[in-house]
Amino acid sequence: MPKIIDGNKIREKILSELKSKISKLKQKPGLAIVLVGDNPASQIYVNSKESKCKEMGAYCERYGLPKDVSEMDLLKLIDELNNNPKIHGILVQLPLPKHLDEKLVTNSILPGKDVDGFTPSSLGSLMSGSAIIAPATPRAIIYLIESVTKIEGKHAVVVGRSNIVGKPVAMMLLERNATVTICHSKTKGLENYTKQADILVVACGSPKMIKVDMVKKGAVVIDVGINRTAGNKIVGDVDFDSVKEVASCITPVPGGVGPMTIAMLMDNLLKAVELKK
Ligand code: GUN
Repeated sequence: MPKIIDGNKIREKILSELKSKISKLKQKPGLAIVLVGDNPASQIYVNSKESKCKEMGAYCERYGLPKDVSEMDLLKLIDELNNNPKIHGILVQLPLPKHLDEKLVTNSILPGKDVDGFTPSSLGSLMSGSAIIAPATPRAIIYLIESVTKIEGKHAVVVGRSNIVGKPVAMMLLERNATVTICHSKTKGLENYTKQADILVVACGSPKMIKVDMVKKGAVVIDVGINRTAGNKIVGDVDFDSVKEVASCITPVPGGVGPMTIAMLMDNLLKAVELKK
């Protein structure tokens, strides 16, 4: 069992299988990516999603809308994409500028084309244990955990309760028969919970917050954080150098969950193709 879980290596294997599946399809899977405004981080994410999509042999349409686009124009575009037979998956990159209602916009994507898995239908189906399309980052987390351990019967502690990572991954762990504890910024005595975790998933957005004395010996530690330090270095939410000494397995940042997310997005696009059949 690898101590350091190599997200890049696992991703390459998944992508090569997906590429082979795509090459056998009569119609190319089509992804529409909508980016509003010029947020530099979003541009980087969208660039890599677009290039990976093309590299995989899928079809990709990218829409760059001005940051002052009206909600009506954005909803109109989504409606067109919902009805476009070449498009199987629609992704509106978040965050959106403040004048746009993120919930309203996300909810306007057809559940069958919601490759992010962010619509209430998708999240509701996840909650009821029969996910239509589950969000990519939680899927990546589950994939990485299952690559090193069985989930059933374990105590999984999730630090973070966002709608796109913490809450859905907690549901997915529960679905796989883990005992799940969700902690967050208002949790008192966080270390009392994290120390009990057989599986510790950290997605709280605080650089190196989880220290070695907060982790049980032998735990599997999944770090979802991506934080930029003052010295322009990317670090996770876990103090990797010290925690790796006690963990049985741990994901690095970068090179852990991050690279896997695009692989799961591409897999979700193929799921959307299946749903259309
Ligand atoms: N912003 C940060 N992560 C994501 C993601 O997974 N999907 C979308 N659409 N926006 C994001």
